[in-house]
Amino acid sequence: MSAISISTRDLRVILLEVKGKDMSLSVRAAHDIYGPGGSVFIASNAKITERQLSWLEQRNPAAGQRPTYVDVVISQERGGSRPPESGVSEPISATQERTRKAREVSREVVVKAEDVARKATEIYRIVGGSAFTVSALRNRDVVDNLQELEGRIKHFHTAVRAAIDEYLIGNTLIMDLIARHDLATRTIQHALNVAVFATELASQALLKGDLCAAVAGDPDAGGNAVQSADLKRDLAEIFLGGFMHDCGLWNEDPASDEGHEVSGTQLISQIPEIVELLPSLMQIVLFHSDAIRIATKPALVMIIDQADDERKRTFKSEFYRTAEEARTSVGMRA
Ligand SMILES: [Fe+2]
Ligand SMILES: [Fe+2]
Repeated sequence: MSAISISTRDLRVILLEVKGKDMSLSVRAAHDIYGPGGSVFIASNAKITERQLSWLEQRNPAAGQRPTYVDVVISQERGGSRPPESGVSEPISATQERTRKAREVSREVVVKAEDVARKATEIYRIVGGSAFTVSALRNRDVVDNLQELEGRIKHFHTAVRAAIDEYLIGNTLIMDLIARHDLATRTIQHALNVAVFATELASQALLKGDLCAAVAGDPDAGGNAVQSADLKRDLAEIFLGGFMHDCGLWNEDPASDEGHEVSGTQLISQIPEIVELLPSLMQIVLFHSDAIRIATKPALVMIIDQADDERKRTFKSEFYRTAEEARTSVGMRA
């Protein structure tokens, strides 16, 4: 029995009809449907419910402006298959185009992500681990490789921007494909899962009302174009932050994960162009293990010891209950 792609709105009408007329029609998921982070939210062949339709719409960043599509198989519980009314399903060409685009941009993201991680691993190998030494930093090889890492992060950033643009017009398949990428190592897979999860979570929290229309390309929502551009930039930074949060562990053979937040921050701090391009990246890497502490003490201070000497520079974090307390602490250090 072949799958068809139907909008959640039309599917809702079908479900109501089935219920109202007591028909023996069943609507089942055509394949596993994934949630943010890559876990299966609706298993293949499970009956689709209205609640699940609401969840799918909620997940779609462009749900207010564009239909949310889901691949289903509709059949009679007893007897032969029964296709939906003509005109209800999405044209096959549109489904194929959405899938083709999702495959293309997600692949680009994953390939560039692997390039970044590989280069970082190479740098750790040259400097003999995640603890940088002065002599290692003077190594010409390190300088060249850091420059290459900068280029790779920028290419990765460009690929992520393209993926976010497509995701925000409702193509959530992109995030599923990135989270389920088969070829990646466990480390890369974890990094990609976190990136996808953080980006989807952030877009749910940030996308509201008119802004939603602006990112989905509604010309009447032009007043929010600037905000829309800001949101796209922020989501790309969150994606990169999610991907690189454990970059302090991208050693070939990390002895333990202790201090990997500082090692990762150190690595990024060696590339000023990236610090400028992604101003929150260092903070994401430094504070990523402290979610529980941040919940009670959300005012964060990043302390840069030996800021003037990049060879000795190191990072510490402090946590305060209020911004005022954090400011006082910073003032006392000055
Ligand atoms: Fe970590
Ligand atoms: Fe992690």
